[in-house]
Parts: sequence; structure tokens; C-alpha cells
Amino acid sequence: MKHFFASSQQPRRLRRHPSMRALLRETLLQPSDFLLPIFLVEGEGIRSEIISMPGVYRHSIDSALRLCAEAANRGIPGVLLFGVMDASVKDEVGSASWQSDGLVQRASRAIKGQFPQLLVIADACFCEYTSHGHCGVLAHDGDRDDQATLENLQQQALSYAEAGVDVIAPSGMVDGMVMAIREALDAARHERVAILSYAIKYASAFYGPFRDAADSAPSFGDRRAYQMDPANRREAFRELALDLEEGADMVMVKPAMPYLDLIRDVRERCDAPVLAYQVSGEYSMLHAAAQAGYLDLQGALLESLLSIKRAGADAIISYAALNVCDWLR
Ligand code: PBG
Repeated sequence: MKHFFASSQQPRRLRRHPSMRALLRETLLQPSDFLLPIFLVEGEGIRSEIISMPGVYRHSIDSALRLCAEAANRGIPGVLLFGVMDASVKDEVGSASWQSDGLVQRASRAIKGQFPQLLVIADACFCEYTSHGHCGVLAHDGDRDDQATLENLQQQALSYAEAGVDVIAPSGMVDGMVMAIREALDAARHERVAILSYAIKYASAFYGPFRDAADSAPSFGDRRAYQMDPANRREAFRELALDLEEGADMVMVKPAMPYLDLIRDVRERCDAPVLAYQVSGEYSMLHAAAQAGYLDLQGALLESLLSIKRAGADAIISYAALNVCDWLR
């Protein structure tokens, strides 16, 4: 009989023993790789589940503090705050986002007071705060007025900095947003506050569940006039170059799993830290498939996160961060 193993090349030699696999594993996930997004609402004692995102809740500040304790206990380095606003406080420009006693501002003070070890990152945008749901001020023709939006973004960033936020994360894809925020922060002596730019943010269908959760869907039209075309790759490099030039300390690619090629590209093209956002739709589809019995949740989630890190992300924003830390123990 012919001998089929004549070759001395047998990659499987290194796979048979679990300790050999552990020894040679190239990518490891650990709690310090993650940031946990938190949806905040006004009120007290509120923890209401978001139907399309099983296991994710909207929290009043007291409840968010309990969640922060869980994150800190697991060794998660930081949280990303989103304010979900009551329709009654929304207006044309999103002024509720820059009040010194606003929801995110109060939450930040409370979190920094109780958990100084946690980094507080504030998503800087307007879609959760405007009556029309677009990410800024609208001009008469319905297009976004970027100049007016940048001025408001400066106010928003300043109010976050004054509330103790460690990192401002502008997500509105406004040209010049990083420079505008950096200038405003530095002029007010907040040079320690870092900027994490959502530099490469695509106009993605995977944000669907978030827009329900944050009540931030545009009331008309879509975001394709400011977020990137999913078909484009080179355009991402121009966005990256601009944001770094404007002073971004860290950059983000978003969504993550459908854009692993971009995470790899960005990792290779710059030395700044690269973060990836495993967005709501990525989370929801894994949960939905698991609930239907089609996928093993733990296996699929860990594999998805591993792929994001393997692609080159230094850290991952994920709604599954708490569970993942438990699974990694
Ligand atoms: C905008 C913002 C969005 C997300 C994060 N910041 C929504 C959007 O651009 O429409 C989406 C995150 C997710 O889907 O998990 N402020």
C-alpha cells in the first residue's frame, strides 16, 4: 500500500496537543482589549432591555454605575457613553448634548468619582439629540451645515472635558472635526483629554439595532452624505491621513467584521492605536442565530472578536465585553 505520509511537512504535529496549541497561539483576547458601550437614560432604577440586542440595556445613571462596577471588576479598562434622550429635550441643533448638567456629563462625573480606574469615553455626535436625527445642524437644503456643526461639536467636547471625560470620540464624520475639537480642548487647557476619531466609519446597515436603542434614526433620508461608501477602500486612507494630521490620538474602524480588510490596512499604514467597533448589528445577528439554535453563541462571538484582533485591532468596542471576560476566565 502506498504510504501517504512521505512528506516530512506535517503542520498537524503542532496541533495535536492542547498545550502545544496554547504555546503557539498567535492572538489572545484579554479583558484589557475591550471597551464597553453604555446606553444612558434619565431617571432612577431603570434598566430596560433593548429587544434587538439581548443582554444589552438602557441604564439610568445609578444602574450604569453598577454596570461600571462589573466592568471594573473584570479588568475592562473603559466605557463608551451614549445618551439616549427623551423626545422632549431634542431640538434642531442638539443643544441637550452640551449642557454642563446633561446626562452624559452627570454620568461621567459619577463614574469618575466612583471608579477612577475606568476610562470614560464619550461618543461625540448629535443624532441622539436632534429632532431630525441627523448628526449635526441641517442647512435649508437639508444637507448638513458642517461649519455650524463643528462649532457645536466644540461646545459638546468642552462640556465633556469639564465633566472629566478622558477621551472624546467624534462619530459624526464631519470634515475637520478632530482639529476643531483639539483646538477647543487646548484653548481651554484640556490638553490631557485624548481624541479617538471614528475616522473610518461606513454608512452601514449594521447600525440598525443601535438606532432603535439610541432612538437616533434619521427622520428622513440616510447618512450616506457623510458616512463612507462601503464599496470604498482607498477613501479610507484619505480619511485616516486627515484625522491623524488633525491630531487624532487613536483611530477607529467601524463596523468591524465586515471591514476586517480595512482594519488590517489601517494597522499597516499607521502607528497610532487602531480600535475597532463591533457594532450593534454584528452583536444582534450572532445572538439571533444563537437563539434560533443555528450557532453556538460563545464560540461564534469569541471567534468574531479574535478575527478583529487578528486583523490588527489594538482594542475592540463590544456590547459583549462583560460576557467575553467571563468566558475568558
Ligand atoms: C453615531 C453613532 C452610531 C453608532 C455609534 N455612534 C450610529 C450611526 O452612525 O448611525 C453605531 C454603533 C452601533 O451600531 O453599535 N452617534
